[in-house]
Amino acid sequence: MSGDDHGHGAVELAEPIADPGIEPHEHRITDIDPKAADRVERQVATMFTLAGLLALGACVAYFAIPRDAVLQFGPLSGNANNMTIGLCLGLALFLIGAGAIQWAKKLMVDTEIVEYRHAAGGTPEQRADIIEGFQTGAAESGFGRRKLIRRSLIGAMALLGLPAIVLLRDLGPAPGRKLYNTIWAQGIRVVNDVTLRPIKPSDLVVGQLVNGAPANLAPLQEESPVEYQNAKAKAAVIVVRIAPNEIRTPAGRENWGIDGILCYSKICTHVGCPISLYEQTTHHVLCPCHQSTFDLADGAKVIFGPAARPLPQLPLAVDAEGYLVAQSGFTEPVGPSFWERG
Ligand code: FES
Repeated sequence: MSGDDHGHGAVELAEPIADPGIEPHEHRITDIDPKAADRVERQVATMFTLAGLLALGACVAYFAIPRDAVLQFGPLSGNANNMTIGLCLGLALFLIGAGAIQWAKKLMVDTEIVEYRHAAGGTPEQRADIIEGFQTGAAESGFGRRKLIRRSLIGAMALLGLPAIVLLRDLGPAPGRKLYNTIWAQGIRVVNDVTLRPIKPSDLVVGQLVNGAPANLAPLQEESPVEYQNAKAKAAVIVVRIAPNEIRTPAGRENWGIDGILCYSKICTHVGCPISLYEQTTHHVLCPCHQSTFDLADGAKVIFGPAARPLPQLPLAVDAEGYLVAQSGFTEPVGPSFWERG
């Protein structure tokens, strides 16, 4: 096919290279043997069909595999539900890609063309020609003619959308009262969330902030990884020591701190990111997600950003052995503010 065949009209064309040194064109087996073409067609259709079945498998796995089931691969382990869904969807996408490549390489039209370079920007004739070329290409790809491939591809693509819809279920239901219940309770020790050592007031100097966790969290890891992750996400706290004369204590919380040591939920009340950036001189802690800023010396009130309420405070006490413990659980729900709280 020459450049003129594409209707370049009045556009000035560069001369083609007389002999670019291309090997003589060899026809593929599927171009000369209809049986081979049919065989490849069946291969492609099989891949597309398997992709559709794998998409269905992902949906079945979502409902059938318990959320806390674990798959073990030697020293590595992972959540069986997530891994099976991921594996099914990954394989489905791979098979659609592999089928499309096989289709293009073995069945779609295989002619060599000469294209002339020309100025950018097409004339109306060129545009009409491109549309015609597209339609010809669509006809030559066999999309209309090869029903088996077309139907299996459409089926697979339609089924691939299904897992996306099924997975939307994970967005709900609203947590209701669940956010009121963390595993903090009266007498639970506050431990350093890295070393897991219980914290004594003397471990903290004025200005210091550490990430904390309840002492009853670590044993959950053995029992149920899913429960452990849920509990950890809700119970994470920060423990900070501020000079007592710089603290403005909200009414009713006079005995919630120990010598300037205060404990707050680490979960941002905007949409739940873990807050982390502490500015010692101002007692401000910043959420990295959308810059909500809380004043830990003033009941963790919001002083900047989209969060709508202060960080919940955990009332502290000291047990008989001198370690920091919770006086009770949180007195309000931790986490994002957009749930209905009654
Ligand atoms: S989640 Fe913290 S500011 Fe948005």
